[in-house]
Amino acid sequence: MRIAIIGAGTVGTTLGGRFAAAGHDVVYGVRAPDGADRRSFAEAVEGAAVVINALPFGAVEEVFTGLDVGTAVVVDAANPLTPMSGDEERARTESGAERLARWSGSTRLVKAFNTTGAENMADPAYPAGPAAMFVAADDAEAKTVVLGLAAEIGFDAVDAGPLAAARDLEHLACVWIRNAIVLGQGRTFAFAVHRR
Ligand SMILES: NC(=O)c1ccc[n+]([C@@H]2O[C@H](COP(=O)([O-])OP(=O)(O)OC[C@H]3O[C@@H](n4cnc5c(N)ncnc54)[C@H](OP(=O)(O)O)[C@@H]3O)[C@@H](O)[C@H]2O)c1
Repeated sequence: MRIAIIGAGTVGTTLGGRFAAAGHDVVYGVRAPDGADRRSFAEAVEGAAVVINALPFGAVEEVFTGLDVGTAVVVDAANPLTPMSGDEERARTESGAERLARWSGSTRLVKAFNTTGAENMADPAYPAGPAAMFVAADDAEAKTVVLGLAAEIGFDAVDAGPLAAARDLEHLACVWIRNAIVLGQGRTFAFAVHRR
C-alpha cells in the first residue's frame, strides 16, 4: 500500500522504515524535497492510500490546510500537548486529531501512533508481550486499515473507540511522556493490555 508520511523526523522515519520493511511503498512529505522519496507535501499525498501526520503540532494546520488528501486514510500521530505546554485545557474539548480532521477536510481521520515513543515504534516487542497501540476513529474501514498496519509492525493493536477518544489518547501520551522524561523512567517502557 502507498503510505505518505508527512514529516520525516524521528517518528516519520521510524514508522516509514518499519512500513517499508513490511513491503509498503513509503514516501515522505517534507519542506525540502530531494527528488527521491522525500517529496513536496502535495506530491507525497498524491495517490496515497494512507497519509500519516508526523509533524510537530504547531505545523499541522499550515501544512494540512488545503492539502488534497482525497479519500486517503489520514492518521494523526502528533501530540498537541506536553506536560508543560499549557494546552491541556483546550484538548479536553477538541483533540488535535479532531482539529486535523477540520483542517484537512478528511472524514477518514484516525488517531494512532501517538501514545508511545519512537523507540517502541522501532521495536514494540517486550518480554511480557507486544506494546499496545491504541487506535481511535469514526470511520470503521479506516480504523481497520490502521489496526492492521499497527499489527503488521508488531503492536498489539487495540480499538480505542471513536475519533473523540483521541482526547483520551492525547492525554495518555502525556502519561508516557511524563513517566519517560519528567519522572526519569527512560524511553524503554510501553503500555500493554492484559486480558483474561
Ligand atoms: N518522538 C516521539 O517519540 C513521538 C512519539 C509519539 C508521537 N510523537 C509526535 O509526533 C510528531 C513528530 O515528532 P518527532 O519526534 O518525529 O519530531 P521531529 O523529529 O522534530 O520531526 C518533525 C518533522 O516535522 C518537520 N517540520 C517541523 N516544523 C515544520 C513546519 N513548520 N512545516 C513543515 N514541516 C515541519 C521537520 O522537518 P524539517 O526537517 O524540514 O525541519 C521534521 O521532519 C509530534 O507531534 C510528536 O508530538 C512523537
